[in-house]
Amino acid sequence: MLEVRDLSVSYGPVQALAGISLEVREGEIVALIGANGAGKSSLIHAVAGLAPAAGGKVSFRGEEVLGLPSHRIFRRGIALCPEGRMVLGGLTVEENLKLAAPGRRSFADLYELFPRLGARASSRGASLSGGEAQMLAIARALAREPELLLLDEPSLGLAPNAVQAIFALLPQLRDRGLTILLVEQNLVQALRAADRAYLLESGRIARQGPAEALLGDERIVERYLGLEQEA
Ligand SMILES: Nc1ncnc2c1ncn2[C@@H]1O[C@H](COP(=O)(O)OP(=O)(O)OP(=O)(O)O)[C@@H](O)[C@H]1O
Ligand SMILES: [Mg+2]
Repeated sequence: MLEVRDLSVSYGPVQALAGISLEVREGEIVALIGANGAGKSSLIHAVAGLAPAAGGKVSFRGEEVLGLPSHRIFRRGIALCPEGRMVLGGLTVEENLKLAAPGRRSFADLYELFPRLGARASSRGASLSGGEAQMLAIARALAREPELLLLDEPSLGLAPNAVQAIFALLPQLRDRGLTILLVEQNLVQALRAADRAYLLESGRIARQGPAEALLGDERIVERYLGLEQEA
């Protein structure tokens, strides 16, 4: 469904990605893991048309999307749920959703998936808990019915029960036909949720394979668990 070939991203003199290739097949949950600054967000931003690609190819359903403006990429069915959630605090939950999908009349299906958001539809974004704000960020990304969801660090900074709720949601989304590229620093949870995974180190892919195989590799788990605890 998504094919990335030799993708490079640079911010002026800083090279964030040095020729990355990966693929996401329809119906998969693919995890992209790695330490702070490894280039995870740069990769999904480049796919979404939001980071400066210096070279390479990105095709979605066989068509090149690299270089298209982000709104056209979103229209083809790729949605980004950004790191940090970016919920608008002065607007209500429903207003946040309307802004993402102005043509929509009803958000009932999203409230069914996220009952907590339904209960808080008229509450301001600023009053939401971290877990609720993350749910809203995901609901907003889903509001235009994408086929591929780029999900950047959904568990970051959340309380343990909210983290569990986010990871429990992923298979439900997949059951609804969504394909997911999940960026996470929460290595163990991400690998448990994913079918396959790529480990990024300093802008390159250091390991790839079935999520189970990476989860079974003690060197990876020990190294990155240590980093998680320091963070
Ligand atoms: N807008 C930018 N301008 C300059 N450098 C940037 C910019 N965004 C990212 N970088 C640099 O690119 C590299 C990769 O950053 P990126 O945000 O993609 O990493 P990440 O894996 O998502 O990290 P994190 O876990 O902290 O979110 C880092 O060295 C970072 O400092
Ligand atoms: Mg990031």
